Amino acid sequence: MAKEKTPDAISLLKADHRAVEELFSKFEKARGDDRKAALAKQICNELIIHTIIEEEIFYPAVRGAVEDDLMDESYVEHDGAKVLIAEILMGKPGDDFFDAKVSVLSEEIKHHVKEEEKPGKGVFAQAKKGGVDLMALGQEMAARKAELKQAFAQDGAAQPQTRTFTGAKIGRGTPPAYQGAATGM
Ligand SMILES: [Fe+2]
Repeated sequence: MAKEKTPDAISLLKADHRAVEELFSKFEKARGDDRKAALAKQICNELIIHTIIEEEIFYPAVRGAVEDDLMDESYVEHDGAKVLIAEILMGKPGDDFFDAKVSVLSEEIKHHVKEEEKPGKGVFAQAKKGGVDLMALGQEMAARKAELKQAFAQDGAAQPQTRTFTGAKIGRGTPPAYQGAATGM
């Protein structure tokens, strides 16, 4: 727990990125369904909180400083990730394609993080250049994050909510015959 001082907005978000990368790599190495279930849940919770503070506070504050196309893609990438997060939260280790869903989520997040952190051109770099008050934003985000963490600890994670996806129904076709994941063999 960082008790020292509240980080600026970008340091806070980058620390979140590093934490979730670490959880994904732990999941990759994990053995045993209980351990995997705990890690998957932790990953989903962290990501839900992260998307909420970005969407509620960070993205609206930097809109204008950051190219519109890049901002739009950020929201859509979040929504794409939420679909997988919802799938993972509904499933459990041992389910067909469970590990694959976690692994594809990890790849999506890697891409998203790259777009945010890209030197010179990423969302963070553009926000910095645009003169956004990152200290004030950091404080607001840290407070909201603490609030969400407490709420999640009490009542479980909130259901992820999309912001750009319209809730269009997707049909469920016949699943491919499951061949089994190659992990743990
Ligand atoms: Fe993000």
